[in-house]
Amino acid sequence: MKLFKKPIFVSISPNAQAGDVFLALKLIVTPWRWRAGTAPQELARKLKEYLGVRNVFLFESGRTSLYAILMAMKLGEGDEVLVQAFTCTAAVNPILWLGAAPVYVDIEDDFNMSPGDLEQKITPRSKAVIIQHTFGYPAKIDEILRIARKNKLLVIEDAAHALGAEYKNKNVGTFGDAAIFSFGRYKIMSSVFGGAAVTNSREIAERLEHTLHTWAFPSLFWIFEQLFHPILLCAAKPLYNFFSAGKVLVVIAKKLKLISLSVYAEEKSGGKPPFGPSLMPNALALLGLKQFDKLEKYNRHRIDLADFYTERITPNKKISLVSPARDTKPVFLNFPVKIQNADTVYKLIGAGKRAGMYLEVWPAKKVIGPSGTDLKKLRYVPGSCPWAEELSLRSLVLPTSPNTTLADADRVVDVINRFLETYYA
Ligand SMILES: Cc1ncc(COP(=O)(O)O)c(C=O)c1O
Repeated sequence: MKLFKKPIFVSISPNAQAGDVFLALKLIVTPWRWRAGTAPQELARKLKEYLGVRNVFLFESGRTSLYAILMAMKLGEGDEVLVQAFTCTAAVNPILWLGAAPVYVDIEDDFNMSPGDLEQKITPRSKAVIIQHTFGYPAKIDEILRIARKNKLLVIEDAAHALGAEYKNKNVGTFGDAAIFSFGRYKIMSSVFGGAAVTNSREIAERLEHTLHTWAFPSLFWIFEQLFHPILLCAAKPLYNFFSAGKVLVVIAKKLKLISLSVYAEEKSGGKPPFGPSLMPNALALLGLKQFDKLEKYNRHRIDLADFYTERITPNKKISLVSPARDTKPVFLNFPVKIQNADTVYKLIGAGKRAGMYLEVWPAKKVIGPSGTDLKKLRYVPGSCPWAEELSLRSLVLPTSPNTTLADADRVVDVINRFLETYYA
């Protein structure tokens, strides 16, 4: 019976463990540590060493990190930035905030940018390309870099999903002119909100350094909301299967502004969130440092779960998996599967819910998530990325987070296999 089953989540505070919650509790009662402090420098130093890059700058989110990079590249009015469809508003809006235009490129079977479509979409106004490593699967970096070089495009890697993923034995996020990482609430490591801009370019680094000295920290209230997030979720998550009490608690906390949204209403039509642009505050960097220490363990766990799913889900007409490209080491932020028909996806999610698990679609059954995003305002031309449109309707992501056990993954596979067997019988 669902009531007594452990709920399984894809994206609801999936990284926070007892130590993280305890740290958040300690921080919430020491507000003098929230803003200024040495933790951001310490986290930047550790990331620099881990990635093997010359410069790391920390901001309050991945989207702000991208904004800072685009500013440092002096992009603006009249410029086009190529970005893949099958993404989220946070990866596109910073282009709009500068008055530049996103041009959407279709994806391939691995949910990453199609180099062939990229070549088709380049115009004389194209100035930069953003390479997204979706779900932590490295994109076709060499091919895209070759096209970018030929067309004199700046290259930004969107490694928001991919901290620790490798391409030809080198960390993703170190191939282009600059890259972003996200430490959002359901990313590879999480400081609830947070992001990094990294670069080996001296020129870009000098401008980012200037930004770092110009921008301020977010408000104390916003920092409180982030610190309260793991604490509240730790109490709410076990209650999700208990007549949805956990969900009700989360909704109420959001309404009362005790925890923040991950994407604000204004962002769904291309606007800026109310908190930014700002720097990573000390308290969130402390949460980030705690998670960074577990990064290798977390990524090994994600890979183990991905191996388990690969072993237990037999690809056939009803369901197919992504085959990681040669020379890549993905880190599986999630484990995506493609289902034969779009209408089956919600039914499968429903079957999951009845069994006490909360499977998800990313990005929200649209080429740009979350749900409610105004595609027109984000300048997406319907039909311009047909494969992204198709896959956004019939893919599903399975959990790989540190809080997902092998036994949980076993339950997930059971529900999927049983559902597909009966549904298509
Ligand atoms: C592909 C991608 N890029 C960038 C971002 C932005 O990260 P953040 O939420 O830290 O602003 C996200 C966040 O969801 C994302 O999914």
